[in-house]
Amino acid sequence: MNQLAKQLNQTLGPMAEMLSPAGKRLYFPYEGILGQGTEAKKCAINATIGMAFEEDGSPLVMKCFADRMNLDTKAFLYVGSFGLPALRETWKNLQIKKNPSLKRVSYSDPVVTNALTHGLRIAAELFAGRGDTVVIPDLFWDNYTLIFGEACGCALETFNTFKNGAFDADALKQALLGKGDKKILILNFPNNPTGYTATLEEAPKIVAAVKAAADAGKKVVVVLDDAYFGLVYEKGVHGESLFADFATLHGNVLAVKLDGSTKEDYVWGLRVGFISFGFKGATAEQLKALEAKAAGDVRSCVSNITSIGQHMVLGALSDKDYGKQKREKYAVLKKRYMTIRKILKAHPEYAESFEVMPFNSGYFMCVKPIGVDAEKVRRRLIEKYSTGTVVLSGLIRLAFSTVPCEKLPTLFANVAAAVKDLRA
Ligand SMILES: Cc1ncc(COP(=O)(O)O)c(C=O)c1O
Repeated sequence: MNQLAKQLNQTLGPMAEMLSPAGKRLYFPYEGILGQGTEAKKCAINATIGMAFEEDGSPLVMKCFADRMNLDTKAFLYVGSFGLPALRETWKNLQIKKNPSLKRVSYSDPVVTNALTHGLRIAAELFAGRGDTVVIPDLFWDNYTLIFGEACGCALETFNTFKNGAFDADALKQALLGKGDKKILILNFPNNPTGYTATLEEAPKIVAAVKAAADAGKKVVVVLDDAYFGLVYEKGVHGESLFADFATLHGNVLAVKLDGSTKEDYVWGLRVGFISFGFKGATAEQLKALEAKAAGDVRSCVSNITSIGQHMVLGALSDKDYGKQKREKYAVLKKRYMTIRKILKAHPEYAESFEVMPFNSGYFMCVKPIGVDAEKVRRRLIEKYSTGTVVLSGLIRLAFSTVPCEKLPTLFANVAAAVKDLRA
């Protein structure tokens, strides 16, 4: 059991006996991303949080959303546990437009969730029973532990993410072929924390790894966490979701797609996401059954999702300027990505202080300090350099989504200097 959970249970004393098994396991991850973000709040450079800010430090928000703060009063009505029908239809059409391979796939209509975290929790509750194994790359978003491990009682098994600078599809295959008949695989591209998306070459290997497990008789639920969809900055990267591949792969494979406006439309607090399902040979009736399962889970948990948020997303997606504004915001993040590439090229000496992990997309990138502990570097960065970062899985995560271009050179210089200080 996690140490933080143990402490909470100790504080509760005999009352802890009242807790359910999940209640006993749960804790608030003060030491994870959120706690580290709080410690960095006053820093001159704050590269901790998974949101995005403009070059002047204001929230990066699209006008087509901001203009909808004054909604029609119908936005106060219930919208039902499946979500606003027009929004579900609009989102599905948009997904098919952005992922042309979905045209050939018969998959469910999306059910609206309270953004992606809730979608993950629904996926966990529908597919991941106590004792089931969840397979994830060893560089993963820490909330998967809380959702699948602590709340739902699954065992988490990690596999090596990178080998020689590429996604380690062999390690994935071995993990899937390991002990146990049923596996829940979570794939997250663009990835948090690494900012990596599989390349066009790697994507088929990932799909082949799952097929090999399915051929060997394993039942595999593939959960695609597409939170950062669309934010790909390099050619040769697999820009589409892998959902279409898994939804048509094999009778032993069921694909779950989680996506939403949070990160890709820059509305973190709005809380509108979607869960969709597909599997090879699925009938319309079977897909409706999965939708009903998801909506039943919504009903049992929060009844229905913010009507105000859903109306706002529907309005924004239908706005004639949505596409243009989205491209403008993408350009802000891509410029930062390109700036980082230039900085790293101009400073080969940084390679003595840290290794740059593969990155090509999303909000983040990671560096691995050489010869010193990442957590010590993080602390040094706050104390001496007024620079906030996050440590996950022994890496320092830098959220360039929050740091204006002009501060990026200082950010990297500070990381290199902090490593050197600790080595001295
Ligand atoms: C990989 C990943 N998935 C899901 C989420 C959760 O997103 P939401 O705010 O939509 O719940 C995050 C948020 O940081 C994330 O990084």
